[in-house]
Formats: sequence, C-alpha cells, structure tokens
Amino acid sequence: MKNYTKIKDISNLSETIKESILLKMNPFEFQDLGKYKTLVMLFFNSSLRTRLSTEKAAKNLGMEVMILNVNDAWNLEFEDGTIMNLDKSEHVKEAAQVISQYADIIAVRAFPTLKNKAKDESEYVINSFKKYATVPVLNMESATAHPLQALADAITISELTEKAKPKVVISWAPHPKALPQAVPNSFIEMMQHLEIDLTITHPKGYELNVAITKDTPINYNQDDALKDADFVYVKNWSSYNDYGKVINQDENWMMTKAKLGHAKFMHCLPVRRNVVVEDAVLDSEQSVVIQQANNRTYAAQVVLKQILENL
Ligand code: CP
Repeated sequence: MKNYTKIKDISNLSETIKESILLKMNPFEFQDLGKYKTLVMLFFNSSLRTRLSTEKAAKNLGMEVMILNVNDAWNLEFEDGTIMNLDKSEHVKEAAQVISQYADIIAVRAFPTLKNKAKDESEYVINSFKKYATVPVLNMESATAHPLQALADAITISELTEKAKPKVVISWAPHPKALPQAVPNSFIEMMQHLEIDLTITHPKGYELNVAITKDTPINYNQDDALKDADFVYVKNWSSYNDYGKVINQDENWMMTKAKLGHAKFMHCLPVRRNVVVEDAVLDSEQSVVIQQANNRTYAAQVVLKQILENL
C-alpha cells in the first residue's frame, strides 16, 4: 500500500481484515518492521481514539512516533500563488517537504469547514500533504472520509457476525452540533464492499452524497428500517444538501433499547449519552462500542504494516 487516504487504497479487503485479526492475536509479531522508522501524526482537530490507537499501532510495529497539534505550529497556507501577507505564516509546500525529512509516514487529521462544500470536497488538506510530502500519507479523518474508522468497523462486524449476510442499518441520530459526514460516508462505502444487507435511515433532508450512497436503500421510517437488524450503527451528521446545517434535532430518532431489538449497537465514539443513544443501550451487552474502539488499533496497525512493507 502506498498511501491510505481512502478505502479504495486497500487492494484486498477480505485479506486485510483477516490480517488485522491475526495482528490482534499477536500484535508484536512484526516489531522489527518499523524499526528506525518514524510516524509523524499531525492533528488539526481533537482526537482521543485515533491519536492513541494509531500511536499504539505504530509502536506495536516498532516505530517511533511524533505528534504535532498543528494549531500549536505556524498557521498553514494551502492556496497556490497567494500573497501571504495576512495570518498564514508557512505554506504547506514547505511544511510537507520539511516534515517528510523527519517522517517515514505522515498521518493527518483535518475536519471539514462545513461551510464551503466545494472546498471540503476538494480535500485540500490531505491532498496537499499527498501532493507535497515525499513519504506516504495516512488519513486519520479528513473532510469527507474516515477510512481507519471504517476499517475498524468492518473488522468488528467480521468478528461478531453469526450470519453469512447480516442486516446492517446505519441510523442518523440527533445532536446539538453540526457534525461532519466523514464517518457515515466511509462506513457506507466500506459496507458496500462486504457481504451484508445495508439500509440507511434518517429524516428527510439528511441525504448523504449520492456518489457515496449509490443504490443503497434509504428508509425514512426508522422503526421499519430497524426491523430484523443484526447491527445498528448510529451516527449524527449534518445536512449534505443544505450543507453543514442542523435542520432537525428530532429526539425521537435517539436510539433506545426498544428500537434496537436484538441487534448489536455500534458507534464510532465519542457519543453523547441520552441524546444520540440512551444509557440502557450503551450499558448493555448489545453495545460493541468498546470493541470497535479496540479494533482501531488493529485497523491502523494493518494499514501501517502494509505501507511499511511497500517503503
Ligand atoms: N472515532 C474517532 O475517530 O474518535 P476520536 O475522534 O476520539 O479520534
């Protein structure tokens, strides 16, 4: 693997999932692979799981890790040809090349503006690093995608499914803030590659990019969509069509034990209790969110392993 900025960078998904489960059983088997190699992690936004699981994954492979909260560094310019006489002190052209001298792999987290759709969809932050860095780039959640989370989700479903073709439902849930579409985008894209029966449910107005959802069924009736589900993935996202807006906060869409039925409950975390999902779900045996978060390590580790093998 050269970079992991999108799900399509995985050449063989089923083998990658199997490999990650083997790494989970024996995390230190490839401890020499990353010896004398450094992962530099750049955070433009907050993180708990991505930061710690990716660092752990890199260390399991013997890598050194350096972390930079970019907001503590110089304010970066991404536009070409600008006169940099305002608040931007350094251009990504120099920054990416400089960091490449300290890193063997650069990992980037950069959320969308949720104001300028075209700019967000250009993925200008991660793509600028891909363009100017001279080492591989790893996406730790960009404007439109969270491929490491999606890989961890696929691993979790593969580990837990008792059926050859489980029914998986992704359900929108209310949230007081406008959140990105990156997690549902990548979850849906990932699920489209698996042997599963996928349904999307959300209130009208929360349709995601059709380039992502393609022909996946959308059911605006949550109760109907959830019938006979084996896995229910709950996530808030802001409107894609009325870009970045919270157009509905209907609390009836919160996930409850009654609605969940016998399904496993999934969420990428962090999650707002009793807004997105009630306590009774999160505190039940049906919640697999802690296992999902654990699988973030092995998702990151298999990706780093495949990149290191290609250096
Ligand atoms: N799920 C996830 O990416 O968590 P963090 O934002 O804490 O990294």
